[in-house]
Amino acid sequence: MCGDVRMLPMSAVLCTLPLPEPFPSRVSAAASLRVLGRVPSHVELCAELRSHPVDILCPQVADRIDTAVLDAGLPRLRGICVYAVGNDGVDVAAATERGIAVGNTPGVLTDATADLTMGLVLAATYRIVEGNMLVRAGEARRCAPGGHMLEVGLRGSLLGVIGFGRIGQGLARRARAFGMRVGAYDSAGVRAPEDMANYVQSFDTLEQLLAESDVVSLHTPLTDDTRHLIDERALRRMKPTAVLVNSSRGAVVDERALVRALKQGWIAGCGLDVYEDEPRMAPGLAECWNAVLTPHLGSATVTTRAAMAELTAANVLAILAGELPPHCVNPEVGSVSR
Ligand code: DGY
Repeated sequence: MCGDVRMLPMSAVLCTLPLPEPFPSRVSAAASLRVLGRVPSHVELCAELRSHPVDILCPQVADRIDTAVLDAGLPRLRGICVYAVGNDGVDVAAATERGIAVGNTPGVLTDATADLTMGLVLAATYRIVEGNMLVRAGEARRCAPGGHMLEVGLRGSLLGVIGFGRIGQGLARRARAFGMRVGAYDSAGVRAPEDMANYVQSFDTLEQLLAESDVVSLHTPLTDDTRHLIDERALRRMKPTAVLVNSSRGAVVDERALVRALKQGWIAGCGLDVYEDEPRMAPGLAECWNAVLTPHLGSATVTTRAAMAELTAANVLAILAGELPPHCVNPEVGSVSR
């Protein structure tokens, strides 16, 4: 018998940029997958969500998912699956109010980010990039005994880690292999796990950590409390021989103040993988030879990106099945069924 068979509309998922396998094959088996292929402007993204409603949006770290974007996605939007562990680009409280689940990709990029950060520590401390430029320009005085480009070195020096979560701890373990001492400051009270307790000293105040460290490395999420945590006052507290490393989020540092610090010698140098207004940089930063600059490479290994794609696909598929994503940053949203 052929009755009134109504087809349910196929679920729809929108990615701003293409994600690597296994994301496309897993998700397109369950939903119609559309990829914009660019980081859209805010206006464009709102217009896109209104003209092509979707169940789930998969943005990049550069996409700003605020109330206007969330509202443009309603009533259909029920999930935001960020291809990143940092979800500061999403207004999570507003998403929760609207019954929209937010998923991310924790854990799988810890090693890649900690490795890259250790690379920045080494490069900034030993002035590797500056040396490379001098050699290429034919200006290098080779191994001058008297003091050309002499550095303090890492052994015995103090690495101050701000934010002692997975990546901060990963960096501490690597730094230990270089003979560094480790200090940790974590405003949420995260302490060193047992196996690290004999070489990690917890600092009660940020000020003390800044004043004593030879290398300060930032591993805190970007929140209202951590925006510009490293401002002019903080930079002036650091030793003039110290370097600042940031592979967390650019806006944790007041980048304009950092340029002044680098130019006026309040600190010796920095290593940055992230910027306040990515991909732009504060005026003057590109001219600072004592700054080692990389283009947000913290998760840029083939296996890491594939693992992130796998977690993002798992988040999407769970929401499509009416369940909370396995890596949900706002489980209090409760139900994602529409
Ligand atoms: C993250 O996952 O938050 C990283 O910044 C992406 O590279």
